[in-house]
Amino acid sequence: MLRVVVLGSGAGGGVPQWNCNCEVCTRARRGDGSVTARSQSSIAVSADGENWCIFNCSPDIRQQIADNAILWPKPGQHRHTPISSVVVTNADVDHIAGLLILREKQGFDLYATGTVLDVLVENPIFNVLDGDYVERRPIVHDQPCEVGPGITIEPFLVPGKVALFNEERMMAEQQSLHIGDESENTIGLEVTSAGGESLFYIPGCAAMTDGLAQRLKGAALVLFDGTVWLDNEMVSQKLGAKTGQRMGHMSMAGEAGSMAAFAGLDVARKVFIHINNSNHVLIEGSHERQQANDNGWEIAFDGMEIEL
Ligand code: MLT
Ligand code: MN
Ligand code: ZN
Repeated sequence: MLRVVVLGSGAGGGVPQWNCNCEVCTRARRGDGSVTARSQSSIAVSADGENWCIFNCSPDIRQQIADNAILWPKPGQHRHTPISSVVVTNADVDHIAGLLILREKQGFDLYATGTVLDVLVENPIFNVLDGDYVERRPIVHDQPCEVGPGITIEPFLVPGKVALFNEERMMAEQQSLHIGDESENTIGLEVTSAGGESLFYIPGCAAMTDGLAQRLKGAALVLFDGTVWLDNEMVSQKLGAKTGQRMGHMSMAGEAGSMAAFAGLDVARKVFIHINNSNHVLIEGSHERQQANDNGWEIAFDGMEIEL
């Protein structure tokens, strides 16, 4: 068995984003039911219903734990957590800032690529995770690794980019690094239970490669990058200067979009996750929502549960 609970279905900033008056954020604040608020990017996975592995650790993790009883400390112990491990897929703020919340001398294992672990080393604030309690374990692409009781991951490189706050420095240092490159900066994961059920978790992906398409063919469940509907929506809504591509995210719609890319892949259950507040797929009854559903996609929401 593999149990998945979506802790946060939004992208960085969440919905509503603190400083944003876009259509989606405005509707979410109005509370008229047309847009549900979403916290930032994270899922919890368990194979035994008792030990949970958190995939990505957003700054909203404190509230996400408070909202999900599966993650509460077990009664009868002074200090306890059902969170046995944390795996991060890149070093973006929405995926690592929550690690600071998980301090308090609590043991768990932290898995990331060497490149992403280096980012934590370079930022000494992450030393609040006491090394006597939190084991940092490097994962290597295409090498399966057990990350919790009955849970194995196989990481793989996907087109992406370095974390925003490192872009200028790392891209100056490594001339060979480009937006959309496959590198240890961004990984996707296949998560498999001891019983053989498996899912893919890919919250950031700049393009569908042949290799990725091969990997995903016939999958039971894929949770995939749903950041933007259109590549230029941030620009056209006057929310920012960057395209989805520039941020390392492929759009849902369009010829180069994920809906088209998944069309022949025969994936049984397709769920968009890491959805930005600029994306009108978040509006119930919108034509974007209709089109996504017509293409067989579900839109993740906080608290969504999936069992395989
Ligand atoms: C992203 O997914 O592109 C990042 O989370 C952006 C950010 O760091 O806010
Ligand atoms: Mn993000
Ligand atoms: Zn907004």
